[in-house]
Amino acid sequence: MSAITTTAIDIAKIRAQFPVLDQEVNGKPLIYFDNAATSQTAKNVVDALVEFYEKDHANIHRGIHTLAERSTKAFEATRERVHRFINSEEADEIIFTKGTTESINLVAQSWGSKFLKKGDEILISQLEHHSNIVPWQLAAERTGAIIKVIPINAKGEILMDEYKRLLSAKTKVVAVNYVSNSLGTINPIKEIIDLAIAHGATTMIDAAQAAPHVKLDVQELNCDFLALSSHKMYGPTGVGILYGRRDILEATPPYQGGGEMIKDVSFSGTTFNDIPYKFEAGTPNIGEVIAFKYAMDFIDDIGHENIQAYENELLEYAMDKLQQIPGFTPIGTADNKASVISFLMQNVHPYDLGQLLDVKGIAVRTGHHCTQPLMDFLKIDGTVRASFAVYNTKEEIDIFCDALQKIVERFK
Ligand code: ALA
Repeated sequence: MSAITTTAIDIAKIRAQFPVLDQEVNGKPLIYFDNAATSQTAKNVVDALVEFYEKDHANIHRGIHTLAERSTKAFEATRERVHRFINSEEADEIIFTKGTTESINLVAQSWGSKFLKKGDEILISQLEHHSNIVPWQLAAERTGAIIKVIPINAKGEILMDEYKRLLSAKTKVVAVNYVSNSLGTINPIKEIIDLAIAHGATTMIDAAQAAPHVKLDVQELNCDFLALSSHKMYGPTGVGILYGRRDILEATPPYQGGGEMIKDVSFSGTTFNDIPYKFEAGTPNIGEVIAFKYAMDFIDDIGHENIQAYENELLEYAMDKLQQIPGFTPIGTADNKASVISFLMQNVHPYDLGQLLDVKGIAVRTGHHCTQPLMDFLKIDGTVRASFAVYNTKEEIDIFCDALQKIVERFK
């Protein structure tokens, strides 16, 4: 497929990196618009994964044999790569986890158990994914801390004045997403962090949806913690990172006990390893971590600026066309948005729409998108969500809009 674009994107070259896109689903060319759930995996990533399992498979940090050294070196090369990707001060500030969910749980549990006390306030926003709500509810239950919710407006934007009103000396942590998975809102994250810092609060940024679209710089953001997932960045599943500033990670107790996270174990006590290993108990997803490096290479080779410009072009193009379809109601119309379109169609239930689109080879997500409190605020059960990645095209959007138009006519 090809499309005329005005940005510096070589779409044919990019699509060649994703053989999975070159298939038919239900007799139609696959159109994959479920990228906010998980993006497809770039070929260089898959090749690295196969190469690891075919040639280098060995456990890390444990053996002195050649394969163990090779896998350890490649594993640590990804840590270095993440360090450069998000511009942390040091590579040791990068902890490998299973994904954003585990990263947030680590902070809520380990940091929370030491630093949250009865009456402390945890600020989250109405836009959060369950993974940035439930871990804090568990932490609040354990510690007696209280959760306060930053409200949003009908467009799906955080109300900054309300946020300022909620901040106080009691605010212990501000945990918010950078980009909303359900609505695509890009939050004014720097301002949110600066205000939290001014009130002495710790900041936890869920950057799962931001990482594939927006350039991340943790030093510039000045956040304490930040989490992201490889599988939303053209990388493998089962891998994510938690960034934490050295001082705060050193002060945070371990998350899980086991191998790797210790210096010395005896039945009378254990001394813990240094960061980042203190937080990496057990054998990780070695091959997937190694392959994740190539996903970041893929993104950086194109460049976040080019990705963002192209995806914005797709977003605008799609919105112009969708708004011409009778009964189309966008859900989430923030001024600053990533390439996510949540919507409803008059007379067609989102679930039915999702199935009818699948018949036409088009993959979208339907439902509450793991943001039930947001759906409650919007007074809806769920939406249909089309989310674009750098390999999507205007031609695919044309087919998607034609399909929607035809479905709507059937349900008139
Ligand atoms: N958080 C992912 C989504 O938004 C799974 O679909």
